Amino acid sequence: MKTRIIFVDDEDLALRGLKRLLYPMRNEWDMEFVDSGAKALNLMATAPFDVIVSDMRMPGMNGAELLNEVMKRYPKTVRLILSGYADRELILKCVGSTHQYLAKPCDAEALKMTVRRAAELERSMKSDTLRQLITRCVVLPSVPALYSKMIEALQDPETDVETIAAIIERDGAMTAKILKLVNSAFFGLGHKIADPNEAVAYLGTETIKSLALCANAFSELEETTLPGFSVESLWEHCLVAARAAKMVAIHEDADRKLADEAYAAGLLHDLGKLVFAANLTEDYRQILNLAHEKKISLAAAEREVFGADHSDIGGFLLGLWGLPVPVVEAIALHHRPRTAAQKAFSPLTALHIGNVLASSIKLSVADMPASTLDLEYLHELGINSHLDSWQRAWRSEAIP
Ligand SMILES: [Fe+2]
Ligand SMILES: [Fe+2]
Repeated sequence: MKTRIIFVDDEDLALRGLKRLLYPMRNEWDMEFVDSGAKALNLMATAPFDVIVSDMRMPGMNGAELLNEVMKRYPKTVRLILSGYADRELILKCVGSTHQYLAKPCDAEALKMTVRRAAELERSMKSDTLRQLITRCVVLPSVPALYSKMIEALQDPETDVETIAAIIERDGAMTAKILKLVNSAFFGLGHKIADPNEAVAYLGTETIKSLALCANAFSELEETTLPGFSVESLWEHCLVAARAAKMVAIHEDADRKLADEAYAAGLLHDLGKLVFAANLTEDYRQILNLAHEKKISLAAAEREVFGADHSDIGGFLLGLWGLPVPVVEAIALHHRPRTAAQKAFSPLTALHIGNVLASSIKLSVADMPASTLDLEYLHELGINSHLDSWQRAWRSEAIP
């Protein structure tokens, strides 16, 4: 079935330009072009669309308002904004309802790739409940203590980029949002950024300030009591896993880019757990009980209840947000690396190992359950014999 896409722009010239640009895609995509938000909504009421690409500045209903409405009425539709640089403030305001931003004038390749990837991801998520949850407005709240620290830091004119970055890095929700923003084609970087420090430096404190204080992109996690779940320990584990993953990458002589991607993947690899805990709290309570009673892994319990686990959901969300592909792949496959198409050392390999190292620094090879560390995968890559030296290196790094 062809992917159905609707393009909305009030300028006739821009619309005609898009039509011409995307003419070669007509065998793959079913495209409609309309010049107002109202017309888009009318058309969407007659048949479902997989993707909507809207201009930001339009008379009557602007792009942000349109996408908000689309989010409410058709949560399964992927929402992209096409916008000029002058709309920076407006852009920050719709960070919640937009999956990705594209820059004007439109680069055909970037648009094709973004739409294609978003549509593929949308189709790959088997569970309807989860797809709806993710494509709708998913809440990603922050650890209250870090949230307050962030707001305080942003209100202080003396605060430097390093301080902001250090706070962000300790909170997966903030890290994810910053990486979403910096990696959107809107900022016209041309390459993807995985390093949160670089992302903060690139965006600058002013943009992060508007994001946090004006656009309310960050929020606090409400106090919920989920037995055996703490968001603080979740991010602590992620930070340790990120360090371990980076260490493994460096140990394997990987380049800086791969090491950065392994680190970012580590910081966000269990983000799916927060998505569940903050958005489907009651179901997650059941899952935590189930894992405890049946003595199965949390991922296995999640799959039993939702038909997908936190790695699927984290990978899906961050993929939709346009994070670097190797980072998204590492997150999506961290519990089953063997299913990766590519059989070479990658951020996924580093994360898979780093995650296990982070869970215990005392394990010997014999202690590592096969379900935790995929020894066959490491064997396929020809690096299973390095296990001892990673452990030694990790021990000396973790326990100085
Ligand atoms: Fe995990
Ligand atoms: Fe983990």
